[in-house]
Amino acid sequence: MTVNANDKELYTLLERIFKEKKEQFIPGKTTVQYALAVYDHNEIFEAVKSLLSGWFGIGKYASEFEKEFSKFLGIKQCILANSGSSANLLAVEALQLPKGAEAITPATTFPTTINPLIQKGIKPVLMDINPTTYNINASELKKAFSKKVKLLMLPHTLGNPNEIDQIMEFAEERDLHVIEDACDALGSRYDGRYVSTFGDMGTFSFYPAHHITMGEGGAVVTNNEELSLNVRSFRDWGRACVCPVCTIALDPNAYCPLRFMKTPLPDYDKRFTYITVGYNLKPLDLQAAMGLQQLRRFPQFMQKRKENFKKLYSELLRFEDYFVLPESLPKADPCWFAFPITVKEKVPFKRKDIVNFLEEHRIATRPLFAGNILRQPAYKDMDCRVVGKLENSDRVMKSSFFIGVHPGLTEEMLNYMIETFEEFIRKVK
Ligand SMILES: Cc1ncc(COP(=O)(O)O)c(C=O)c1O
Repeated sequence: MTVNANDKELYTLLERIFKEKKEQFIPGKTTVQYALAVYDHNEIFEAVKSLLSGWFGIGKYASEFEKEFSKFLGIKQCILANSGSSANLLAVEALQLPKGAEAITPATTFPTTINPLIQKGIKPVLMDINPTTYNINASELKKAFSKKVKLLMLPHTLGNPNEIDQIMEFAEERDLHVIEDACDALGSRYDGRYVSTFGDMGTFSFYPAHHITMGEGGAVVTNNEELSLNVRSFRDWGRACVCPVCTIALDPNAYCPLRFMKTPLPDYDKRFTYITVGYNLKPLDLQAAMGLQQLRRFPQFMQKRKENFKKLYSELLRFEDYFVLPESLPKADPCWFAFPITVKEKVPFKRKDIVNFLEEHRIATRPLFAGNILRQPAYKDMDCRVVGKLENSDRVMKSSFFIGVHPGLTEEMLNYMIETFEEFIRKVK
């Protein structure tokens, strides 16, 4: 990052504020968060600079972020959105599937992975998950398939990559679309390649709990030019413009020669010509300014997440008689969002006992999102097709939870987490 003389004062002030803000960790008093945005004066400096530029909407920071993020993933297009949920909605919209189409998706999920399907009249086909990877078993896709299935909408649960080579083979043989919900999986690889780059589109969330943050934010990534234009149009009110970031947004004094060229309506301004029935799901440029700094730090975040997961895994292995520990596939290299744990059956305690114990000791836990979505009040009567009995999804809803692996965890915090597990097991044994 370059800081010129005019910005120096602001930068120094923010640097000082952040130095003074550092909190001491007190075991049992300071909460060990399940997720945490790790940022400092650099992110805030760039966000303030963006605000001071006088341009609030998508502009030069968004343009830079989209380019850098695409380069990082090795994909052609990145389209920023204001959340991961919006990214999922845009990805589903961009496909323009016929009404009555079906989409295969896991029953254990985050609500806004499935919501765009319901909202667009696409019938969800709910598959059960594997009890250790928390993803669907690719070998069971055949059981879920019907002629109406047009889409596989697959989250890489908590950052754990799906068996994406088998899934893509299945999809290609049947001419199906694939959306990879990689909202929890930035940095996770399968066979050396980043997840989100296998399917038609991948989606990301930049909410503070996620691998990098913009406060709120999201993105759709794709190698498909046509889909990227659809996503941008749906995101930007439905308009006909084709530039990734508007020339006028990059420079308000610029002249845009494309506005009146090749327009669907003769002589009508493309910025006010609508080719899709769109939304406004754009982020602010200050979010992208923050995101750019986060992206540049991401290689360190990624390494720390992996180290934290490894340490917790190797220590919690001692308690394997009590807990199901997560597993990943041989070709997978996950950059975990969190550390999922399922309480085994026939142990002398229930999930609520360990969760309460951890929470009382200020170790934050969360359930695996919605659990079996069909048990949630809003979804219990939804029009869907269910494959099998969803026994593992029910089990996850009853017995699973997750704890943090985020890059803000210190050695002291990790040791405290492990000691607290030890203390609990000693008590219940
Ligand atoms: C798998 C998955 N998809 C989508 C989302 C939605 O992202 P956002 O909170 O940015 O809307 C989340 C949020 O955590 C998620 O875990």
